[in-house]
Amino acid sequence: MTPTTAPPPPQHSALVASGLTKVYGTGPTATHALAGVSLTVAPGESVAIMGPSGSGKTTLLHCLAGIVTPTSGTVAWRGTDITTLGETRRTALRRQDFGFVFQSGQLLPELPAVENAALPLMLGGTSRQEATRAAAGWLAHLGLAGMEDRRPGELSGGQAQRVAIARALVGSPGVVFADEPTGALDQATGNEVLSVLTTAARSSGAALVIVTHDAGVARHCSRTVTMRDGLVAGEYHAPGTSNREVAR
Ligand SMILES: Nc1ncnc2c1ncn2[C@@H]1O[C@H](COP(=O)(O)OP(=O)(O)OP(=O)(O)O)[C@@H](O)[C@H]1O
Ligand SMILES: [Mg+2]
Repeated sequence: MTPTTAPPPPQHSALVASGLTKVYGTGPTATHALAGVSLTVAPGESVAIMGPSGSGKTTLLHCLAGIVTPTSGTVAWRGTDITTLGETRRTALRRQDFGFVFQSGQLLPELPAVENAALPLMLGGTSRQEATRAAAGWLAHLGLAGMEDRRPGELSGGQAQRVAIARALVGSPGVVFADEPTGALDQATGNEVLSVLTTAARSSGAALVIVTHDAGVARHCSRTVTMRDGLVAGEYHAPGTSNREVAR
């Protein structure tokens, strides 16, 4: 009798997008923002998405994060297709499993830094005390000890983005999505914030999907995906991960 060997355990990818298309509008004025994108993000991996303006980067990010429903295609998060979930479950999943960092203006101006950072936990039902303790820990970790009580208007742009990063990570998300998180900062501050973001995501075990125009971001990411006209035009794996460049 031939001994049967068990199949290898499935490779659990964090996020698997297959054949994503997104058409905005209808008729002759319709915009094909995504024309068939497939992308896998492994747990803990950092992926930079680059490409010209209008190439579909933000649309892709929003589809991956369950903010936008693709016209066709699927997005599996830990095995569940999030494109078919109802809005209530999708919102809950986003809150629980994903973190977000946007370009700027995402902090609530009337709340102190620590409460801004604690918000996702409090919305998820964690007690105020516990949430602010966790948030203060992240703020300190990101170099903002002593600034917990400052409101966003009393912080520099770089400091405000660190608060936004603390908020994105405080709930221990599986993936952090960032859309040009340093777009409103000068280059030096932007690089610093980028390094803080990638290091913090890595140390928390979160995967990172980051849209950026800054080629230097590749230094901080394990993979760079280039978009063109709604398609993935190329992929670059940083040395040490899988050292190859693939042009499609
Ligand atoms: N809500 C919308 N309604 C209609 N068209 C849209 C919408 N959002 C995006 N588009 C169009 O879809 C295409 C892709 O836009 P998207 O925002 O994804 O590009 P991007 O690569 O993020 O660009 P940028 O670098 O300028 O941010 C563009 O042609 C854009 O005009
Ligand atoms: Mg964009």
